[in-house]
Amino acid sequence: MRIEAGGSLRLEWPKGAVDLVFFIGSRRMGRSFAFQQDGRLYQAPAGYYANRGAWDSPPGYERDATPDFSRPITAECLFCHATRARLSSGAVNRYDEIGHGIQCERCHGSPAEHEKLVSPGKLAPRLRDSVCEQCHLAGEVRLVQPGKRMEDFGPGQDLAEYVEVFTGVSGGVKVNGHAEALAASRCKQASGNRLWCGTCHNPHSTQANYNAVCRSCHAQPHNPGDCAGCHMPKARASDGGHSVFTDHSISTRQRTAALASYFGRQPSPRNLGLAYARLGVRQRDPEYLEKAWPLLRQAASVQQPDPLLYSTIAGLLQAGGRKEQAILYYRLSLEQDPLQPDVMRKLADLLGPGEEAQRWRRKAAAILPPLRN
Ligand code: HEC
Ligand code: HEC
Ligand code: HEC
Ligand code: HEC
Ligand code: HEC
Ligand code: HEC
Repeated sequence: MRIEAGGSLRLEWPKGAVDLVFFIGSRRMGRSFAFQQDGRLYQAPAGYYANRGAWDSPPGYERDATPDFSRPITAECLFCHATRARLSSGAVNRYDEIGHGIQCERCHGSPAEHEKLVSPGKLAPRLRDSVCEQCHLAGEVRLVQPGKRMEDFGPGQDLAEYVEVFTGVSGGVKVNGHAEALAASRCKQASGNRLWCGTCHNPHSTQANYNAVCRSCHAQPHNPGDCAGCHMPKARASDGGHSVFTDHSISTRQRTAALASYFGRQPSPRNLGLAYARLGVRQRDPEYLEKAWPLLRQAASVQQPDPLLYSTIAGLLQAGGRKEQAILYYRLSLEQDPLQPDVMRKLADLLGPGEEAQRWRRKAAAILPPLRN
């Protein structure tokens, strides 16, 4: 595999080549690239890492011996990495418009005439924090609330109405764990709403004096040195990536806790069940799956469209060998959201040879075609 870095970038390997048309990330942290085929965006299995000045596989690819070229850049990625990413109808990775980078409106809104811009620092604390959390709060598991669409979220709204976010379980520094870590710090817990991202970071300035910020609360520090250097050390992220990240838990204590809602509320059975199911699959832990099952069943008794709930139930049924029931739930999920090529392929695999399976595979290929190469 060879990469030429020039005016425009091109990724070449023995059997083919693609032009890298789009990137995610800054030069500071590293860049990850995307390429287009038939107008659709896919993640390229190569990125640039600023801290090492080197090209390598991007986060999520480092354990792959044979990188694949089939990872779509979905609207979910672009919600956090771009502005106004508008999907073309019937597509999961083809866009009518993508505004590059994080533009003003993501933090200040796009008010109609005579309306005022949102000033993040002046909002009530939960709304203020939501401005940064919309992108900087990944948690252990982040779920969109049923019936909500992230693209409707804007500054001035409460993120908790749009997502449930579970924290806890794994310790260590994560690629996108800043809000979660800060919430676990003594500083935040003891000073509450006085402390937020904006206390230390001003998005409009590259100048930062972290020591002065620490001293604004710790007036008589035990050591006059670089506070953050000792109390907010940098480390490789536990969830992949090649860059180092800063520990925002401002403590030497190891954090591991039970799965809990970041927003401090009692999670719904649906959200808790989905979170356990996702952790169970990710960590190959049957105990989590056992916890998930009764919660998901309870959630399914509520008659409400919820394609993610039904495809998750189908996955668990399939894993438990209950094929016929799994098929029913996959079909139900697809009735409610017909734009799920991965679910279509799972259903087709379960159905085995035959006309219906072929039909689902054709539909999946029409939405997300397998890459030539
Ligand atoms: C629309 C999504 C989005 C929003 C909203 C957002 N960020 Fe970010 N932020 C990002 C992404 C993505 C990166 C990584 C940037 C990159 O690699 O270019 C980032 C990077 C950063 C960095 C590191 C930048 C650097 O150059 O070192 C800081 C600090 C930061 N954001 C703070 C904030 C604060 C504070 C807020 C709220 C006022 C906020 N962000 C809101 C997406 C967002
Ligand atoms: C909830 C918001 C969110 C979503 C969803 C999201 N990202 Fe990110 N991502 C971020 C933020 C914030 C950072 C920056 C972290 C930092 O610089 O500290 C980041 C960092 C990255 C990086 C650089 C990591 C590194 O090691 O330097 C890449 C590459 C990336 N994201 C790709 C993706 C892709 C591809 C998707 C979709 C599959 C995605 N992201 C989904 C918020 C998000
Ligand atoms: C990542 C989030 C973010 C982005 C993107 C962003 N801002 Fe801001 N902006 C802030 C925050 C937070 C403050 C308040 C800073 C403070 O008081 O500490 C602010 C303050 C301001 C202010 C001062 C008045 C006020 O509302 O407090 C102006 C004017 C402003 N921004 C304009 C812009 C413009 C124009 C852009 C696009 C070029 C932009 N901002 C992009 C987060 C952002
Ligand atoms: C908004 C006020 C505020 C700011 C800003 C702040 N802290 Fe704190 N911090 C606190 C409070 C309050 C406590 C709890 C003190 C206590 O329990 O006696 C605390 C506790 C701590 C602790 C003890 C942690 C533990 O686990 O026991 C350390 C270390 C610390 N802060 C370091 C820092 C550093 C370093 C900075 C700057 C990067 C900083 N703080 C910024 C308010 C703040
Ligand atoms: C008490 C101060 C403090 C607070 C509060 C704070 N940060 Fe930071 N942050 C830092 C320091 C220090 C760094 C490291 C800066 C450097 O090395 O240049 C940093 C770095 C970052 C980076 C760059 C990537 C990394 O991990 O090094 C991001 C992104 C970031 N912070 C996001 C946030 C977000 C989002 C919030 C709110 C949830 C937040 N920070 C709150 C002090 C703070
Ligand atoms: C050379 C490294 C180093 C520097 C520099 C440093 N600290 Fe500490 N700090 C420590 C260690 C080690 C402890 C003890 C931690 C423990 O016992 O868990 C500590 C403890 C603390 C505590 C909790 C105990 C107490 O004294 O109340 C606070 C708060 C604190 N530091 C704040 C700061 C601030 C603010 C600065 C910057 C002005 C700073 N530290 C600079 C290493 C450092």
